[in-house]
Amino acid sequence: MAKRIALIPGDGIGREVTAEARKVILALVKAHRLPMELVNFDWGADKYLREGVSLPKGGLEMLRREFDAIFIGALGDPRVPDMKHAADILLGIRFGLDLYVNERPVKLLDASLCPLKNCSEKDVNFVVLRENTEGAYVGMGGNFKRGTPDEVAIQEDVNTRKGVERILVYAFEYARSKGLKKVCMSDKSNALPYGHGLWQRTFAEVRERYPEIESWHLYIDALAMQMVKNPAQFQVIVTSNMFGDIVSDLGAQLQGGLGLAASANINPGRVSMFEPVHGSAPKYAGKNLANPMAAILTAAMMLDYLGFGQEARRVESAVSNAIREGKTTRDLGGDLGTREVGDWISAHL
Ligand code: NAD
Ligand code: IPM
Ligand code: MN
Repeated sequence: MAKRIALIPGDGIGREVTAEARKVILALVKAHRLPMELVNFDWGADKYLREGVSLPKGGLEMLRREFDAIFIGALGDPRVPDMKHAADILLGIRFGLDLYVNERPVKLLDASLCPLKNCSEKDVNFVVLRENTEGAYVGMGGNFKRGTPDEVAIQEDVNTRKGVERILVYAFEYARSKGLKKVCMSDKSNALPYGHGLWQRTFAEVRERYPEIESWHLYIDALAMQMVKNPAQFQVIVTSNMFGDIVSDLGAQLQGGLGLAASANINPGRVSMFEPVHGSAPKYAGKNLANPMAAILTAAMMLDYLGFGQEARRVESAVSNAIREGKTTRDLGGDLGTREVGDWISAHL
C-alpha cells in the first residue's frame, strides 16, 4: 500500500521549497516506483485571513487517521503579526500528535560551506535532539494589566519528569542504535534550578543505563561557544525546546546556512511531521530565490522514517552532487533559482 503524505506548503518560501520537495518525491515515484501518494492542504496565512481558519476542526484526527506522515514548508506571514495561525498549525501538530522528538541533523556536506576556519566535513556531523512538547512553548501564562505601565507578563516553562526522561532516553537509544559513542546534554540548571534541576537529576539517572556511551553536560551558553570552537566533539546533543530551537539555527549556519538544515518531528512509530528548520523568509518569498535543499533533505528524512532508506540516500547524494557541481541558489554561491535547483536534483536521482 502506498504511503500517504499530507503536504502543507504554508506561507512565503515554504510554498516554493515544498514544490521542489514534491518534485523530487514525484520523480522517485515515477522513476523508482516509490509507493507514495501526496495530498495537498492549503492551511496557512491566506486561508486564515480569508476564512478565519488555521488548523481546521478535526484536522489533527484526520492527519492521524488517514496519513503516514506530514510535510510542512514553513508558516509565518507579516500580515499575521501574532503568528496565531502558525502556532495553531505548527505547534498544534507538534503538541497534538505528541511529536516529542525534534531531530535536527547538523552535517557539513561540503567543507567550502563552513564559516569556520580549517573545518572539514568530518568536523561537523552531529544531531540536535530538541524536546518538542514542553518547556517554554506550552503556552501557559498570561498578561495582567496589559498595556499599562504596571503590566505583568508570565510565560511558564513546563518540564515534566516523563517529558524530560523520554527525550533523554531517546537520545541514548539514538546513539546506541547508530553506534555513536557520545551524548551531550545541555540546560541552564545554574540559573533555572527547579525546571532544569529536573533535567540534571533525570540525566544522572538515565546515563547510568548506558555505560558504553560517554555522556556529559554543558550549560547552554557554553554549548553555543563549544559548537563554534570545536564542533567535532559532538555526536548527539540533547536539550530543551527553546534551547534546541536556538542552537539548531547556530548548527544550520555551521553546515552552510538555513537553506540546508533539515528536521523531523517524531513520535517513534506514529504519524510524524517533517519540516525544514528555516521559516517563511518573507523577503525572499515569491522570487524563486530560496534554497530548496533544506526541504529536499527533509523529504529524505521522511523517506528514511517511512522505511525507504535507499531512496533517502539517493536524494542526499543528489543534493551533495548539486553542491559539488555548483548547481545552487545564491545563498550557497550559485546562480540558479529555487525551481532550477529542484529540477537539477530531480533529474540526478
Ligand atoms: P527565516 O528562517 O524565515 O529566515 C531568516 C533568514 O535566513 C532569511 O532572511 C534568509 O536570509 C535565510 N534563509 C532562510 N531560509 C532560507 C532558504 N531556504 N534559502 C535561503 N536563505 C534562507 O526566519 P525569520 O526571518 O526569523 O522568520 C520568518 C517567518 O518564519 C516568521 O514568521 C517566523 O515566525 C517564521 N518561522 C517559521 C518556521 C517554521 O514554520 N518551521 C521556522 C522559523 C521561522
Ligand atoms: C522552528 C521555528 C518555530 C519554533 C517557530 C516558528 C514557532 O523557529 O521550527 O525552529 O520555535 O519551534
Ligand atoms: Mn527555529
